[in-house]
Amino acid sequence: MRPLIPYQIIRDIRNTLCYLKQSGCKGFDCSEASLKILNRLGLPCQGAGVDRETLADICTDLGDCTRCGLCESRTHIVFGEGSPKAQLVFVGEGPGFDEDKCGQPFVGAAGQLLTKIIAAMGLTRETVYIGNIVKCRPPKNRNPEPEEIRQCLPFLKRQLAAINPRVICALGRVAARALLDTETPISRLRGRFYEFSGIPVMPTFHPAYLLRNPEKKKDVWEDVQQIMKMLE
Ligand code: URA
Repeated sequence: MRPLIPYQIIRDIRNTLCYLKQSGCKGFDCSEASLKILNRLGLPCQGAGVDRETLADICTDLGDCTRCGLCESRTHIVFGEGSPKAQLVFVGEGPGFDEDKCGQPFVGAAGQLLTKIIAAMGLTRETVYIGNIVKCRPPKNRNPEPEEIRQCLPFLKRQLAAINPRVICALGRVAARALLDTETPISRLRGRFYEFSGIPVMPTFHPAYLLRNPEKKKDVWEDVQQIMKMLE
C-alpha cells in the first residue's frame, strides 16, 4: 500500500519556511534573533530560555500604530482588557463609536449585553479577557477590510499566545472568519468547538446581532453553556 502523504502539512511547512525566510529568519538555529522574529510574527516559541512575551510587551510593540489606514480616523487604539491569566477570551470584530472614544472594548450597547452574558456565566469582565480582530474603529462601523485584518491580527494572536486561555469565544462572523479561516456563515458555525492554535474556539452570534435579533439569545446561551462546561 502506498503511504499516505500529508500534502497539506508539507505545503504548510514549505509556506511557513518561505514566510520566515522573507521575514529575515536565517537558519533554524533558535538564535535569539530568529526567536525574536518568530515572536513578532505571532508564532511565539516557548521552551528553554525563552520567556513568553507579556501583554505589556505586545502593547509596547504595537505603539501608536500606523500600520493601516484605520489610524487616520481613530481616537484611541482599543488594545483589549481583562485578566492576563484569563481562562476565557472573547474576541469581537473591532471597536465602535463608544470604544473608540474611551479605548476600552465592548462598552457600548453591545458591550453592555456582553457584560450581562459574562455575568450570567458566573464570571466578570475582570476575570476574562476581551479583545477584537482589529484594534481601531473602522469608519462608520463598516466591516474591517482584509488588509486591516492582516496588519492587526498578528497582535491579537500574540495576545492569545501570551494569555494562553482554555477557551476562546469568537463573537460574530468577522471574528470567527479571521480566527478559523472559514467562509462558513456564523449561523452554521455556532454551537460547536473548533480550534485555533490548539485552543478550543466556540463561535457564537455577536451581541450587536442579538440586540437586533433577541430571539437568538437562546442560541448564545446554549453556546456559552458549552463553554462553561469546558471550563469546569
Ligand atoms: N463590537 C465589537 O465587535 N467590538 C467592540 O469592542 C465593540 C463592539
